[in-house]
Amino acid sequence: MKVLVTGGAGYIGSHTCVELLNEGYEVVVVDNLCNSNPESLKRVQELTGKTLKFYEGDVRDEALLKKIFAENAVSCVIHFAGLKAVGESVAMPWEYYDNNLNSTLVLTKVMKEVGMKNLIFSSSATVYTADNEMPLQETSRTGYCTNPYGWTKYMTEQILSGMSHADKEWSIVLLRYFNPIGAHHSGRIGEDPRGIPNNLMPYITQVAVGRREQLNVFGDDYDTPDGTGVRDYIHVVDLARGHVAAVKYATENAGCEVFNLGTGTGYSVLDMVHTFIDVNRVPVPYQIVERRPGDIGTCYADPAKSAEKLHWKAEKTLADMCRDSWNWQSKNPMGYGE
Ligand code: NAD
Ligand code: UD1
Repeated sequence: MKVLVTGGAGYIGSHTCVELLNEGYEVVVVDNLCNSNPESLKRVQELTGKTLKFYEGDVRDEALLKKIFAENAVSCVIHFAGLKAVGESVAMPWEYYDNNLNSTLVLTKVMKEVGMKNLIFSSSATVYTADNEMPLQETSRTGYCTNPYGWTKYMTEQILSGMSHADKEWSIVLLRYFNPIGAHHSGRIGEDPRGIPNNLMPYITQVAVGRREQLNVFGDDYDTPDGTGVRDYIHVVDLARGHVAAVKYATENAGCEVFNLGTGTGYSVLDMVHTFIDVNRVPVPYQIVERRPGDIGTCYADPAKSAEKLHWKAEKTLADMCRDSWNWQSKNPMGYGE
């Protein structure tokens, strides 16, 4: 079975390509490389000993998509392509709405035309409102997003569920990721953020490798066991395997279903820092600073629905996540850009 992976050269996409190839799927990637390096795809092929087909281009390019579908008998699409930096989305809202909404609209237009309607979409836990009880279930409240990035995920969910309501041939899986970290255990592929990392784990690894002086811990006065923010960190390989499970689900079930991809366990910023130091035996200097505007204290998933319907659950531990993040960063201090 052939799977089209948009944004397949990126962090989660490249790990998903590995898992798909290992499971015997054929893989076609379209990526415009606006936030990735084609080296990741070279390494995906090295790691699996299999080849994939790569089209360099934009998902908003309708002619390109038509060509891809004409040249490949695709049975399912995993749509990762999009812009993902929250702060940048506040500064460049038009670019975020254009890229994240138009990519989905053009993709689904072409999918309708060719009559292939199995789609997995990368959504985010950011669609949940801040006032929910924990753990977050798929039925928890959504909306009231605090930035354009979050709105693009929320709006895309609305667009796709509306399409599936109107046309019962669609098979759509909306995956709400919690906090993906870690890397392939080989250390050959991993997260390679451009500029100063926004997210916790890449910041920790860049401090550990000496690219940044110290970690700023954003606030220690939250209502959490140690006062620092609590999140549901999930190993990117577990997350990638969740996509393989979603492909099986989408090709066997029509409709539109939403699933949390998280572990169900929350860890604080200081849990992360101390586990990273203990597992890897490297120093990570840090200081406590003010809260980051827009952050919430605690966020973690109820993954029961994914376990029941996707037959998937996260298996890797926090120590695995810290070890694999460091293995990638220490072997590739400058990411793919070396
Ligand atoms: P990433 O930036 O590493 O990967 C996205 C890929 O899409 C990149 O390779 C980029 O070059 C490509 N791309 C962007 N716009 C494109 C376009 N118009 N046409 C073709 N290619 C395009 O990000 P990631 O962390 O792998 O995230 C993948 C998806 O998961 C994104 O949609 C993101 O919003 C979503 N997501 C990520 C996280 C996270 O923490 N990483 C959390 C929740 C949701
Ligand atoms: C961020 C995004 C969210 C996105 C999610 C996915 C914001 C406001 N939210 O959420 O939309 O879906 O990533 O990955 O950017 N922290 C520090 N120091 C740092 C970085 C982070 O203390 O340098 C803390 C944060 O305050 C938070 C935790 O670490 O408590 C995790 O932060 P981060 O990795 O940015 O993820 P989220 O805040 O969950």
